[in-house]
Amino acid sequence: MRRLRLSLLGLCADALLVTHLPNVRYLCGFTGSSGWLLVEQDRSTFFTDSRYTFQARQEVLGARIQIAPHGLINSLAEALKGRRRLRLAYSPAQLSVAQFNALKAGLGGRVRWVRASQLIETLRAVKDASELNTIRDACMLISRVFEQSVASIRPGVTELALAAKIEFAIKSRGAQGPSFETIVASGPRSAWAHATPSLKPFRKNELVVLDQGAILRGYCSDMTRTVFLGRPTPKVRRLYGAVLEAQDAAKAAIRPGVTAQSVDAAARKALRSQGLERFFTHSTGHGLGLEVHEMPRLGRGEETVLQQGMVLTVEPGVYLDGFGGIRIEDDVVVTSSGAEDLTTAPRELLGL
Ligand code: GLY
Ligand code: MN
Repeated sequence: MRRLRLSLLGLCADALLVTHLPNVRYLCGFTGSSGWLLVEQDRSTFFTDSRYTFQARQEVLGARIQIAPHGLINSLAEALKGRRRLRLAYSPAQLSVAQFNALKAGLGGRVRWVRASQLIETLRAVKDASELNTIRDACMLISRVFEQSVASIRPGVTELALAAKIEFAIKSRGAQGPSFETIVASGPRSAWAHATPSLKPFRKNELVVLDQGAILRGYCSDMTRTVFLGRPTPKVRRLYGAVLEAQDAAKAAIRPGVTAQSVDAAARKALRSQGLERFFTHSTGHGLGLEVHEMPRLGRGEETVLQQGMVLTVEPGVYLDGFGGIRIEDDVVVTSSGAEDLTTAPRELLGL
């Protein structure tokens, strides 16, 4: 909250309306599904509805709680009624057109709207020691879930059945749930980088991509492993080795002071040297924290400078239409001099 107030001064705004729930949680601790936070220099007010009266009392720190009987917009208008002029910052990407129009109608001409994008996201990108501990635990948990579930990959078992086992294990081990819908994709379907699990059964001699994450105490992990059902063929070994090298190259490029795009370029260069760059069809990684995708994105044209304490995924892959895909994804933290692995599951190619 203190760091945010400093950025607000820089924007010449009197207040910031925080409408994105992960940002609300980051600033005041509320974990429910409905709530806005109004941050001013000398006070903060948290608005929620009556379902969350007791929860808000228990969770919210550093803000006055206002239960909204007739919706958040009316409550906000009510709270700001006496004010003459207010420069109110908001994030356009986190407010619908309908909400913005209703706010404008409710607050009238007293408010000057100041567009402010990624103010809180920039603060969230660098994790403190307690956030790092939690993410470390979330990464260890999902690594164990993977090691446990891989034993269930057998011919005849469906992608959906394995995804269900993974998600059961995530909750059984004390996490809130998956940080995104678990991806299990086998055979030619493993070439779909973002497949959803289907009723397709595993067959002998095919690739299986498993992409899974857990939310533990609010923080996400995200890891991918690719295994081969049978004895890996020379082609599979070659492709797997190339993706592993690309991941190593990207990790080696990470340190404070470099740009996000340079990490992406390192992975692409490694795949290019094997003639495989055109099969790598997404970016190299993304920030990870309260959300599974957050700042910074490790992709082409991304000029964000990496800082110590950022948590990133490093997930190069190759996807060959009709044949299959291979992706290897680890989570790392940027240290004072490089990248430290948070994902603990082994990376070598498993033949099952
Ligand atoms: N693991 C899913 C994703 O990063 O999109
Ligand atoms: Mn990811």
